[in-house]
Amino acid sequence: EDFEGHGVWRYDAALPFEEGVTLPEGATPLHRVPRLESEVGVEALRIKHEGMNPTGSFKDRGMTVGVRVAQELGVGRLACASTGNTSAALAAYGTRADLETLVLLPAGKVAAGKIAQASLHNARILEVDGNFDACLDIVQDLADRGEAYLLNSLNPFRLEGQKTIGLEILESFRDDYGRFPDRIVLPVGNAGNTAALYKCFRELVASGALEADAVPKLTGVQASGAAPMVEAVEEDLEDTRRWEDVETIATAIRIGNPVNAPKALPGIRETGGTAVAVDDDEITDAQRSLAAEGVGVEPASAASVAGLRKLRERGVVDDDEHVVCLTTGHLLKDPDAAAAAGNDPEPVANSTEAVLSHLAE
Ligand code: F0G
Repeated sequence: EDFEGHGVWRYDAALPFEEGVTLPEGATPLHRVPRLESEVGVEALRIKHEGMNPTGSFKDRGMTVGVRVAQELGVGRLACASTGNTSAALAAYGTRADLETLVLLPAGKVAAGKIAQASLHNARILEVDGNFDACLDIVQDLADRGEAYLLNSLNPFRLEGQKTIGLEILESFRDDYGRFPDRIVLPVGNAGNTAALYKCFRELVASGALEADAVPKLTGVQASGAAPMVEAVEEDLEDTRRWEDVETIATAIRIGNPVNAPKALPGIRETGGTAVAVDDDEITDAQRSLAAEGVGVEPASAASVAGLRKLRERGVVDDDEHVVCLTTGHLLKDPDAAAAAGNDPEPVANSTEAVLSHLAE
């Protein structure tokens, strides 16, 4: 295979196979953002842009492993519930593996780019009259009844692939700074990435590759309108309380029942991290700030930067910290949100004179 040993599969020693169904995925950039770094006021700020994966989100890292497992098992049908990105990734990896793919989406709450991907990559798309959590309940029922192989982040093989985000961050950061980051700030929906990063760090500590006191503080960010993890951290709960009504511009993380919370909450606590909620206007501000550095992300991804800003304002994050913010999905995933946050196109007549006089106005 041409892509053998590339990206995610460079870390096959940490994965259950030596190869997967690959497009290929991983090896995403760790951007410098000097203006944002000095505005936020930390020693170092880098952006790990997972929107640069083949289908435009980190989900590809999980699917390359998860769909390989499905092939091994010889399952008949793949399925997921999704706020959009999981469905786009599953559709692409599923069709590449020549497997039937079913996705359940909350009707009216999935960004346009994501539906377009699931559609063209040949998934069967069911729009459910309910939110993401209801879709996931149904997909779990289907899996229990043997009707489908579940590829949400409840599937532990997904998280194996997503561990490689942590491995890449640590390696690149050490190459540039000679040390590991103090903190990783990430958006939280189902808390799969939080759980995957924690597992990654535990394995590195167990192997002796990482000192226990050098483990980055896992810092989760949710939208105020969908923040059960923040509630669980603040109230020191063992699991989240299910929020029935959730709303946010960051539709990717419009989730009221984070199914990986029991695995992720210990990660936040034991690394000395925290969780914070941000409002939609703070998310949009952060999306603009990233875009101003040339880094185009979808709203959920910008939540990480919005959360870091808030934690700096509150004095929770120190000015001497080295921080990585994870941006999980590409700007083009949600073109409507981007257009609403950005400059409006200005109509102008068809001549150079008209353009010049318009610019002079
Ligand atoms: N950011 C983006 C862009 C996402 O699509 C998701 C999850 C998250 C963050 C949250 O990650 O669940 O690991 O805490 N999207 C899922 C989906 C739910 O269906 O695409 P998490």
